[in-house]
Amino acid sequence: MDIQSEKTAYQALIKEIHFHNHRYHVLDGPVISDYEFDQLLMRLHKIEKMHPEWIPPDSPTQRSGAAPAERFEKTTHPASILSLANAFSEEDLRDWFNRISKIDERVRDSEFVLEPKIDGLTVVLHYHKGVFVQGATRGNGEIGEDITKNIRTIKSAPLKIPVHEKSLDIPEKLVVRAEAYIAKSDFLRLNERFAKLGEKTYQNPRNTAAGSLRLLDSSIVAERPLRILTYTVVAGNPKTSQWETLEYLRKLGFPVANVSEKCTSFEDMLLKIKKWEAYRDSLDYEIDGVVIKINDLKIAENLGFAGKDPRGAIALKFPAQEVTTRLLDIGVNVGRTGILTPYAILDPVEIGGVIVKQATLHNFDYIEEKDIRIKDRVLVKRAGEVIPYIIGPISDVRTGEEEVFLPPDLCPTCGKPVESVPNEVAWYCVNNSCPAQIIRNIEHFVSKVGMDIVGLGIKIVKQLVEFGLIKDVADLYGLKKSDLLKLDGFAEKKADNILLAIEESKTRPLSNLVTALGIHGIGEIAAEELALRFQDLDALSSAKNADIESIDGFGPNSADAVENWFALEENRNVLKKLSAFGVWPESKTNAVVTKKTFEGLKFVVTGTLSEFTRDGIKDFIKQNGGKVSDSVSAKTDYLVLGENPGSKYEKAQTLGVKVISELELKTMTEDEN
Ligand code: IVH
Repeated sequence: MDIQSEKTAYQALIKEIHFHNHRYHVLDGPVISDYEFDQLLMRLHKIEKMHPEWIPPDSPTQRSGAAPAERFEKTTHPASILSLANAFSEEDLRDWFNRISKIDERVRDSEFVLEPKIDGLTVVLHYHKGVFVQGATRGNGEIGEDITKNIRTIKSAPLKIPVHEKSLDIPEKLVVRAEAYIAKSDFLRLNERFAKLGEKTYQNPRNTAAGSLRLLDSSIVAERPLRILTYTVVAGNPKTSQWETLEYLRKLGFPVANVSEKCTSFEDMLLKIKKWEAYRDSLDYEIDGVVIKINDLKIAENLGFAGKDPRGAIALKFPAQEVTTRLLDIGVNVGRTGILTPYAILDPVEIGGVIVKQATLHNFDYIEEKDIRIKDRVLVKRAGEVIPYIIGPISDVRTGEEEVFLPPDLCPTCGKPVESVPNEVAWYCVNNSCPAQIIRNIEHFVSKVGMDIVGLGIKIVKQLVEFGLIKDVADLYGLKKSDLLKLDGFAEKKADNILLAIEESKTRPLSNLVTALGIHGIGEIAAEELALRFQDLDALSSAKNADIESIDGFGPNSADAVENWFALEENRNVLKKLSAFGVWPESKTNAVVTKKTFEGLKFVVTGTLSEFTRDGIKDFIKQNGGKVSDSVSAKTDYLVLGENPGSKYEKAQTLGVKVISELELKTMTEDEN
């Protein structure tokens, strides 16, 4: 190859890598494997080693590894990098709308754009003739710091635009405003990595992103999972509406939040905005509100400013999810399996409309790792469905009165010594007659996934155990009305109802009873699998370890757990008592596995059957060790075809799944005999 064609090939390679980079980091849809990508990069490195004079500033290799800077240079923004006014309610939004409608009549019929208010940091990206030339922090809005080297390391920030739409016109100078952030999932991974290395973990994605962006050594920044989302063209915008601007940015190859939406009117916006708070939990980046923008940029500009805030946009802020309060004490819970878990007792504090008094501390290692001390001021987070937890202490405001917490040597309930299990961080109370464990065990037994004894809550269970009325789950079935009437708040009616609920629970299927026993690692799904294969608890208790291990989804640990549970004398006694009380469900389906002809095979049934009923064919397949699923996939082994099949048949044909009749299914099992 002559030198000129070599250079042309080099430039084409740069474009190719930019394309794949965009597919991976912006569109989340790579079209080549990581391995192939690495090969391309390696080729690029090789060429650049031979021809360093060719390397343009937008080469993908220029993303990382620049020498550490002494400090950041200051840089003046081409236009003010503004902030936003806040609203906290629909009423605030109406006030805003009325205010600006008075300034410009056109606002009344205006369209609006809703965007996530990403909880990150503003960065300003400069492109000259499509090449990334500078990146800056917001600073005071007029002058920021030049963090070009650090921005280069962010893979979702294009080094060259347009990334693939060649026909797109771009202005010579384009300045884009973006939010730099760390995704929730990346943040968890990053902290896991630091915890493993024994290094300090971070409090939240935003602070980590902020700290990372201003590191002087860009090679460290390159290891931080920073991302950007763009939302404004600060200079050089050829578009006249916000919605078109977002589309334009996306076409150029910039990442743009895809939850953003256009609203036809103010009222339409108020309707659409209602679902936004739910996005807070479903998006992989933190948002602290929604930004509402007038779509027409001319109208927005005409509205001018109130102080530093443009009138044409406003942020509807969500209630805070993180607040600080005092950690009054650390309590320790004893779980069903004897596991000890610490929890925080807090000076009560409101978070998002709920008073929080307790929060989880995960485990004892967490307390040590975060250096959380009793009486510390702590940052508490309550988000969505997650149990409130302590993010960490605010160590800067310590007074010296704080006390280091030490995990207990004795079980806080029964006072017996606690033990640790190899390879586990947890500590356990190993005393099987520890009342705390018995209570939790019974609580689990009566729960919805277990025997579903309606009305028998933890408070009643606690009293029953504390009064010595029951010692294990089987004793529930021996309770008399006179026993219940001894408890707080019990009258005839309530006692009758509970006794009825206990009696009624005898009809629960075997799978519920297996779940209710609380065998380590055997949840609802595993219990169902066991109930499918074993006729009753007798059959299960005498099952061979290997039989259990061979079930799909079971491994040596769960097989051992089942075996160990049934081997324990006290558990055998509970079973005897249950059986004597008539709590002895038998496998409801007839699908007790008798043969293994279909073992490992997945079946789907479609169309009207003539040989079997719907349930009958499923039982038949299961009895022979096979699995039945509702939809055809590449993993399906056979489609059993009845009359007038639907789309499943077509799908099976396109996927090349074997299609058989009911009769063929039957003969498959007969062949063996
Ligand atoms: S628009 C005039 N849009 O929120 C433009 N800001 O005080 C003003 N932010 O510092 C900003 N997501 O860093 C805008 N979709 C979004 C945003 C957003 C996050 C940040 C931005 C700004 C702060 C508002």
